[in-house]
Amino acid sequence: MKSEILIIGGGIMGLATAIALKMRGCNVTILSRDFQAAATYAAAGMLAPEAEQVQGAMRELCLRSRCLYPEWISKLEEITGINSGYWACGILVPVYQGQGEQKSHLSGNWLDKQTIHQYQSGLGQDVIGGYWYPEDAQVDNRRLAEVLFAAAQSLGVELKENVTVEGIQQRQGQVIAVQTNHGVICAEHYILATGAWSNELLPLPVRPRKGQMLSVIVPEYLPELPLNRVLFGEEIYIVPRRDKKIIIGATVEDVGFTPNNTPIGIESLLQKAIRLFPELKDYAIAQMWWGYRPATPDELPILGESPLKNLTFATGHHRNGILLAPITSVLIADLITGGKFDPILENFHYSRFQSPNQSSTSTPMFTNSANFNHVTNGNGNNPIENLGKQPFNQNEHINKGKQPAPTLEPIPDSPLVIAGKTFKSRLMTGTGKYRSIEEMQQSVIASGCEIVTVAVRRVQTNAPGHEGLAQALDWDKIWMLPNTAGCKTAEEAIRVARLGREMAKLLGQEDNNFIKLEVIPDAKYLLPDPIGTLQAAEQLVKEGFAVLPYINADPMLAKHLEDVGCATVMPLAAPIGSGQGLKTTANIQIIIENSKIPVVVDAGIGAPSQAAEAMEMGADALLINSAIALAVNSSAMAYAMNLAAIAGRMAYLAGRMPIKDYAIASSPLTGTVN
Ligand code: GLY
Repeated sequence: MKSEILIIGGGIMGLATAIALKMRGCNVTILSRDFQAAATYAAAGMLAPEAEQVQGAMRELCLRSRCLYPEWISKLEEITGINSGYWACGILVPVYQGQGEQKSHLSGNWLDKQTIHQYQSGLGQDVIGGYWYPEDAQVDNRRLAEVLFAAAQSLGVELKENVTVEGIQQRQGQVIAVQTNHGVICAEHYILATGAWSNELLPLPVRPRKGQMLSVIVPEYLPELPLNRVLFGEEIYIVPRRDKKIIIGATVEDVGFTPNNTPIGIESLLQKAIRLFPELKDYAIAQMWWGYRPATPDELPILGESPLKNLTFATGHHRNGILLAPITSVLIADLITGGKFDPILENFHYSRFQSPNQSSTSTPMFTNSANFNHVTNGNGNNPIENLGKQPFNQNEHINKGKQPAPTLEPIPDSPLVIAGKTFKSRLMTGTGKYRSIEEMQQSVIASGCEIVTVAVRRVQTNAPGHEGLAQALDWDKIWMLPNTAGCKTAEEAIRVARLGREMAKLLGQEDNNFIKLEVIPDAKYLLPDPIGTLQAAEQLVKEGFAVLPYINADPMLAKHLEDVGCATVMPLAAPIGSGQGLKTTANIQIIIENSKIPVVVDAGIGAPSQAAEAMEMGADALLINSAIALAVNSSAMAYAMNLAAIAGRMAYLAGRMPIKDYAIASSPLTGTVN
């Protein structure tokens, strides 16, 4: 049966909205990749609009949601008979010596030193006072997820787990289906509630913001909870649960989807938590975990209508997802069922992120042209913004003053994402082999690339052509990809990678942890050593590098590298500098088919036709150096490669016609006169 409403995402927003819609009589299905991966599961469950000092329209949204909580929870608990751990315990914001001035703007009930220590015993001695927010509260977010899941089930929401949405198919400004790992699923209306992963399906500016957390257990010898309210300090919060666990959170890290807890993350939490509430230091650690908040550039959610008529957004709730679930579900359910638009939604409209010349119905992000049927791909492979800007801007230029530019609308695509960093261009270039620095500079500009690889060793040794390289490019605009060219062993490559990181830092790219890993023992064929590459990759990933390994087009090796945590794989098309073109097509195809990380075709591409072909196959990006640097006119060739990468990508998204054995006439034969 065709579902009326299909919700993509089984986190708190998806579940809460499904329930609200079901209660209004809709037929609802939720697709979820993994219910436990959602930020819902990782959160601490604070309902803290006041303690978090949320401002503006967001404050109103948060306060309205906090107000809905008690009734919302009791209805859910009544349906399921499960306790959600909702607790209107209030939140205390202690202030340290020297911090008082900074926090003096906070609104709330001020408690002086004596009062706060009386009110809450066990606080650190250097707490000199604090603010008390009696109406802030908490809920046990994991239990709440259980409650929502059970409520959705008992109300008859169809819950489909282990379903990955791979793409959204659109036609004439509407979603017509979603492509999943279990086939195509259609509905009348769709809701995107995919949190930190939203950008994988549509080019929304939602990025993961990692948070690490841990829990400790209140020792049995303490008859009662030592804390009866949440403590919310500077970059730390301590949330006591009635089941005698205490949650300690959370880091805020801009590291993409880098998994795992780290010693530094946990150390910083423990240090701050012990300062705030010293007796914690002896409690047993129960668990550590991490999750990804869905953050937008202004840290506000994206709610309500989308550029597609039958798609609604409920994503980007950043630090306040648990708090905002009730209000989000009501606003979205009202909007979809009754077309009722609450004016507060204006503040959270997706269009606030569009540049002024993009209209709401037709943007480079969301094509709306008649009979245009396309799929936005779910594996982070979509060069939408690119396609929107580069080729058609050229067109505009050519047509200036003559006739209007053709109203071509490119297929929506999302940017290239490597280790959480976003790039519009899918062409990377290098700096080697140019006849002069000026030629290199012009070519880099003409290529439109945003990533330039630089041989660390050659810069370090000021090799010919590499003198002054550091100053030659605008490193505010170009992301440096240091490479380990010239390294014959894993050990050497690891050492040079570390130097590369320092080099990027010196050029002002403090957060650049990228390394193009090359381990090449043989000087004649310049073929990479698979074993050394894997060993070095493993070590460098452990050291926090985003590793982009250069490899022979070996699908098994590519898989191993992905498994050890590499950020991309970079299979060669043909030997470096040979310009032979795609000699490893079959293997590259297998790598592309199986890879969950971007596949960058590197080395061997000699001409734009070959660049386009690699992109048509579904490569995520290309790295081209010699073919540009050694062309008679290198900057013109750089420009041609830029266009080829875009054309190939567009062709890949467009889907080429099938190859037939025999001719088939272009004009239909039916209706011809015999
Ligand atoms: N709302 C708390 C956090 O995001 O860490």
